[in-house]
Amino acid sequence: MNYSKILNQIELELKEFPNNGKVASYIPELSKVDPEKFGIHLYCISGSNHSFGNSTERFSIQSISKVFGLTLAMQLLGDSLWKRMDVEPSGNAYNSLFQLERENGIPRNPFINSGALVISDILISEYENPKDEILKFVRRISGKPTIDFDEKVAQSEKQHGHRNTALANLMKSFGNIKNEINQVLDVYFYQCSLAMSCEELAKAFMLYANEGTLLESNEQLLQPIKVQRINALMQTCGFYDEAGEFAFRVGLPGKSGVGGGIVAVHPEKYSAAVWSPKLNQKGNSLLGMEALERLTTKTGLSIF
Ligand code: DON
Repeated sequence: MNYSKILNQIELELKEFPNNGKVASYIPELSKVDPEKFGIHLYCISGSNHSFGNSTERFSIQSISKVFGLTLAMQLLGDSLWKRMDVEPSGNAYNSLFQLERENGIPRNPFINSGALVISDILISEYENPKDEILKFVRRISGKPTIDFDEKVAQSEKQHGHRNTALANLMKSFGNIKNEINQVLDVYFYQCSLAMSCEELAKAFMLYANEGTLLESNEQLLQPIKVQRINALMQTCGFYDEAGEFAFRVGLPGKSGVGGGIVAVHPEKYSAAVWSPKLNQKGNSLLGMEALERLTTKTGLSIF
């Protein structure tokens, strides 16, 4: 497969694409990004790498970080994790409140905000310093010790995080948050503020494309059954109320973030990370989805 040629074609084609998405502004710090940034990085299981555009520039990975939080929680708790949240697509926006009330404070899945807040709560209960453990894990799987939280983004979200505060309080009233609300929000906001490039994200997500084994050291970090379950959750819940659309158009497990990043995984083949800050109405990168759709269409490869 000539991935470089395919990426060149996608880059050329998308120069003409009418990108009428909007940069996220409900976290004010995110709205400062240059809306025209666009990059992609493809990391193949053979070790070959292909990229174009702003693929080495770090951006706010936001909800993509929920995959890392989930991985740590699955390692810590095993199956008892699923008493605290479900594994069903929500069909609703990532920050929706009403389903959570109807379902007694049990989030539909770990990727909507309520689910990720419960994961933060678990990490606080299980680790002495959860933020350090998140950083340690991400640095390890990406091989980049310089990866860090973006303090300004974390503070900006803290000042405007009224909906997440409401979700956490609602779950606390049902007994599904054990620690202090502010502590839970702090871990969640810092996790979301992680700044990474497409290149670093693609490398980190090779863990999920390579059955839980680090490609370079051959070290088994995660059991294959856990990777299968994380990939299943990315497939069914990774794009909130657009999970069906992503499966239909792209056909790979993936996860998006409101910073405009998307990572998709082709098990045993590659991981691909794309970044374009302008979002569609469901909060997913408009150009990012288009680029990944063209990647799986041109290669003729998807998991289906
Ligand atoms: O909690 C929030 O609203 C953000 N920190 C993350 C949301 C997000 O990335 C949704 N994904 N598209």
